[in-house]
Amino acid sequence: MPRASDAAYKWRVHIQSWFPTFLYKAPLQRSWAGLNRELLRECYQVRDHDLEGQRWCVKNYPGGFTSYASLCRLHKMSSTFMELERAINRHVLRFAKHLDYDLKDRELVMTDCWVNIMPRQVSHSLHLHPLSTLSGTYYVKTPRGCSALKFEDPRLSKFMAAPPRVADCRPENRTFVSYPAEAGHVVLFESWLRHEVTANRVASERVSISFNYNWF
Ligand code: NI
Repeated sequence: MPRASDAAYKWRVHIQSWFPTFLYKAPLQRSWAGLNRELLRECYQVRDHDLEGQRWCVKNYPGGFTSYASLCRLHKMSSTFMELERAINRHVLRFAKHLDYDLKDRELVMTDCWVNIMPRQVSHSLHLHPLSTLSGTYYVKTPRGCSALKFEDPRLSKFMAAPPRVADCRPENRTFVSYPAEAGHVVLFESWLRHEVTANRVASERVSISFNYNWF
């Protein structure tokens, strides 16, 4: 036991937080409504014409539509998606700076970009984005009450013997965190971070565009 008085001892206790997990969220740009209208139109065009994607979704994304397995390079196919890519690039660079990535002689490049349309009751179970560095989602249409993007503490499996946390624990000690889907906003995360979209509980469709970046 320390010989110092309790008060003096207390001042020597030093707890710091290390190995953080960062999540990024921001409005895409000052004015996004016009771009969103055009993106929404094109998202529905993709859904209506992507027969291969429709077939894939019957088995893998029941009730919803994603072009993840069929048209997943939309930023190379449409000038509207290209404009979105340019806007997202700025956010990716800002996030990479916060993560202290050394990008001297390296470049972060959008490798995949696809559409997700979730009608009522459609969900997207826990997953990560393999073979990528940074990933994210841009929200095109988010009816009030639609499902959020839910992230899981990446150390969860290591907590197997830990007692449960108190209900009012500090925010950074939570096991899950949900980011509400908000039209015109972009959310970025490192691709290894597991996440899910729980079932959409509202009647109207939730439309988003997801993407991956890799470094070269
Ligand atoms: Ni995802």
